[in-house]
Amino acid sequence: MQRVVCPVLIGREAELSELEDALLAANRGDGQIVLLAGEAGVGKSRLASEVERRARKIGMTVLSGGCSEAELALPYLPFLEALGNYLTTVDLDQVRKELGSLRRELAHLFPQLEPEAESRETGDPTQAKLRLFEAILALLRIAGQQTGLLLILEDLHWSDASTRELLDYLTRRLRGTRIMLLGTYRADELNRKHPLAHHIQAWRRTKAALVIDLQPLPPDGIAGMVRAIFDSDEVTDEFRDFLHRRSEGNPFVLEELLKDAVDRGDIYRTETRWERKNLDDLRLPQTVRDTILLRVEQLSPEQADVLQTASVLGRSFSYPLLLAVSAKGDRSVQAALHASVQQQLLEEEPHDNGRYRFRHALTREAIYEDMIAPHREELHGLAADVLTKQEGIPTIDLAFHLLAANRWQDAIPIGIRAAEQAEDNQAFAEAAALYERLLRHVSDNLTRARLLCKTGRAHYRTNDPGRAQKFFEQGIPLLEAAGEEIEAAEYRIDLGRCNWERARPDVARSQYERARAVLERAGPSDALATVYIRLSGLHMFNYEFQDCLDMANRAADVGGRRVGADLGRRVHRRRDGLPGQGRRRTRADGRHPCRGRQPWASVDRGERPVQRFHLSDPDVPGQRSPRPHAAVRAVTDRRQAGRAGPVLLGQHLVVPRLSRARPRAV
Ligand SMILES: Nc1ncnc2c1ncn2[C@@H]1O[C@H](COP(=O)(O)OP(=O)(O)OP(=O)(O)O)[C@@H](O)[C@H]1O
Ligand SMILES: [Mg+2]
Repeated sequence: MQRVVCPVLIGREAELSELEDALLAANRGDGQIVLLAGEAGVGKSRLASEVERRARKIGMTVLSGGCSEAELALPYLPFLEALGNYLTTVDLDQVRKELGSLRRELAHLFPQLEPEAESRETGDPTQAKLRLFEAILALLRIAGQQTGLLLILEDLHWSDASTRELLDYLTRRLRGTRIMLLGTYRADELNRKHPLAHHIQAWRRTKAALVIDLQPLPPDGIAGMVRAIFDSDEVTDEFRDFLHRRSEGNPFVLEELLKDAVDRGDIYRTETRWERKNLDDLRLPQTVRDTILLRVEQLSPEQADVLQTASVLGRSFSYPLLLAVSAKGDRSVQAALHASVQQQLLEEEPHDNGRYRFRHALTREAIYEDMIAPHREELHGLAADVLTKQEGIPTIDLAFHLLAANRWQDAIPIGIRAAEQAEDNQAFAEAAALYERLLRHVSDNLTRARLLCKTGRAHYRTNDPGRAQKFFEQGIPLLEAAGEEIEAAEYRIDLGRCNWERARPDVARSQYERARAVLERAGPSDALATVYIRLSGLHMFNYEFQDCLDMANRAADVGGRRVGADLGRRVHRRRDGLPGQGRRRTRADGRHPCRGRQPWASVDRGERPVQRFHLSDPDVPGQRSPRPHAAVRAVTDRRQAGRAGPVLLGQHLVVPRLSRARPRAV
């Protein structure tokens, strides 16, 4: 059986020269993001592998990862894939050393870097995310520091929200590095509402990324491919134009059409050369989908069955997993794989023994969608059963199969775990989407209440207080009705905060007061300290300085120690102007200049073993919080000097932590 794949790259000279310039510039230390855009099958991946070949030739390190079309996928998936592979090839101790303290930020994504890492609260989500992005960038720099790095990220039209955010961040941070990030995406999948579309528009406008649009091949390009495939010089103008019309210049479609024609004997080999029937007698299928499904029909029913099972596992899958899920013997599965490779439906993963992938995403899609829904569900269920018994499987993969199998009983706890892990990785948008999806299938009141509140918190962390508020308002009363008062009070603090951010300080205050009443009864806790800090902030904005100070003192008391006179002085100084800015900025009307803008204090619970109370606006750029080790050292020094308690560092009050909040299970 003949495979019909073009052995050489045809055309694309102009694009290659642009790409090569970018590659050389990155190698010299002027890195950037370059994107290859074009319709499915137009040759983005083919061109990217040509760039990869050239990068390797000049000694650059190459890493690659791809996004998944599965509707649930790990946040940062393409980065995880690329960097995960990188970490298997290097001296981990050396990388740990070079990363220094940043490796703690990567502990969730790459546990091999920090195996002992304890689960920690995320604290201020914006700060935590920035630290994570910086840490990923540091790891990329390490990968490229000696040789320069080409990082290929495929199929960004399927990228998750976290990946998109990280990409956006990298557009601003790659200049001055030896990193070229080459991304590919299907332009035809990016309608106006696609979340990647507005990023790309902005990157094009600001030239933050170079976007190269790949057009279909012209008639001569099509002729060039036919010549290369059949190793022949003879392609008539008529045949060229016919194929160009039918394939619309799309190389993938052309290869599929030709493969079909060869299989049917419409194009055939004689002793000396390739011949074809008259154009009128060529019976080429109308769509790519038809060509693929016709080819599946060439397989035996058992082989087709194995291939359908594979399509449930994703574009790329491992042989052992397919073997286990298909519940057929080694020989049958191997025969099916062999036949599918011959039929140009599957191929072996080039760099990964024992893995196969569908030759094209469209191939997998056609086969998957040709199955009836109950059969698909059954196969997803089988896949979930097999994965449940395996160790080290990402929870999100298991959740994906359980959801696709409609097995809600099992899917809900696993889905919640997957969403929590997403939150640990600062992927709040994905977490919120997953919680919301699970919500539709939860009837138990307490689970529903918790899920509502978790959804609210995830939305709040994506900076969407309006949406967050709606979920809190439903979830909190349900939690209270179920007797979970303290938990409800903790969420009330978030609800108050949402109201505050939506310019409703009175509602915020009443929420804080309700939370405070419950939390005070329960004794000292992080949540109680937080509620005091929030109230203190509200008093500050109302010029109720005594109350403000009183609440701040209570917060510090709950933190275990009385606040020193320092804090008092600072708070009073705020009567005159913003502390630390050295200017008097009281306005003529006597109102404070920062009124209505920002809270003056918040608790950052990102770092152990101290809490840092921002005494000034934590969100104003340039006001950096004390570095974690500086904060810890300050507290330790003070202890060693025989004085316990909080320390003032710049504009931050550092308070030794009291207790560690335990994560709650639903
Ligand atoms: N310029 C070219 N010369 C020769 N063959 C090509 C060329 N462009 C694409 N091909 C072939 O066409 C097929 C499809 O190309 P490729 O996989 O690169 O498409 P793609 O744009 O990445 O599609 P998708 O969006 O689905 O990922 C491949 O077999 C590839 O080798
Ligand atoms: Mg591709």
